[in-house]
Amino acid sequence: MTKLELQEKFRNRFHKEATHFFFCPGRVNLIGEHIDYNGGKVMPCAISLGTFLAVAKNTDKKLRFHCLNFPETAELHLQSSYTKTGKEWFNYPLGAIHQLLQDDHTVSGLDMLFYGNLPIGAGLSSSASIEVLTMFAINELFQLNISNTDIAILGKKVENEFIGVNSGIMDQFAVAIGRKDKAILLNCDTLEYEYLPFEIGDYVLAIINSNKQRELADSKYNERFRECGAALKLLKRELSVTHLCDIDPVIFESHKHLIKDPELEKRAFHVITENERVKLAIIALQNGELEKFGELMYASHQSLKELYEVSGRELDVIVEFCKTYSDCIGARMTGAGFGGCAIALVKKNSFEEFATKLIAFYKERIGYEPAVFASVIGGGVGSL
Ligand code: GLA
Repeated sequence: MTKLELQEKFRNRFHKEATHFFFCPGRVNLIGEHIDYNGGKVMPCAISLGTFLAVAKNTDKKLRFHCLNFPETAELHLQSSYTKTGKEWFNYPLGAIHQLLQDDHTVSGLDMLFYGNLPIGAGLSSSASIEVLTMFAINELFQLNISNTDIAILGKKVENEFIGVNSGIMDQFAVAIGRKDKAILLNCDTLEYEYLPFEIGDYVLAIINSNKQRELADSKYNERFRECGAALKLLKRELSVTHLCDIDPVIFESHKHLIKDPELEKRAFHVITENERVKLAIIALQNGELEKFGELMYASHQSLKELYEVSGRELDVIVEFCKTYSDCIGARMTGAGFGGCAIALVKKNSFEEFATKLIAFYKERIGYEPAVFASVIGGGVGSL
């Protein structure tokens, strides 16, 4: 969507001109899944798909939300706080505005037109994208001087407190500070980060949307969050640690008897071994050992499937196909799971054939088609 096209849509809707235009990407996570709320390291990157916003201030003290992707709209009086209403899309930007108001920032009336080209609710962080986009836009419009890191922190608060999902910081952080062709190595405990060159030579990072509706994803996610907290509490009886990711596999082995519940033990074991995989993945990427990186992706998927139990038949079928395709060297589900997307490292020259064969394989087993596309690693939120 170009700025010109956005302006035209804005004019049709509001009968005036938009004054500012912004874009915020979505993200994929290369490795380190369900790690952010356990204090470890993750490796996401921003992608070129995302959410657009055209906006202008108004003087009638109204917040108007329109989105080209949804029929639902909202027009609300400017208030000092808001609460979530139903499950509509505009709760995300509304939550972002609510959060800024809670932090004593003042905003005027706004006419807002959103458009997203990210598949919605597919695990590519469409919600973090719209939250961070809204805050970034208001930050620019009213010169609030909030850093992108703080926007990410506030975005997480929106998700946790306004939307009601106990998610970690990874998604908001990735879309706020992403950089073209770079993976972000984020320490979710300290929020220190660095950019790693994502140099994959003859390969392409494929994104495969399972097109499976993510039912009950939020409640299952919150369940995993609680399970990790419960396992940590038990381990803390003997270990002086703050997060599950502070524990290495050897220490875990000698203390896992404290957990007793086999479900909780599996969850903790995933977290602790996934955190180790991230460390190995950093070395593999730095040494250009893509095949090693790919193996770690497969191992991550296996652990998410069997220990953390957040995959599902659709994502498993995708990874099963990838393992049989010789020009694919690694694949895994990405994001929260329970449906959504997988990623795969595929030889550039074979990408078309890979996509065709995967679609047929998946359709035969699942009954409908996945969407397969080659991703472009893009920059973070910004003005258009
Ligand atoms: C979702 C959450 C993130 C993270 C991932 C799993 O995307 O929003 O905070 O926990 O799931 O890694």
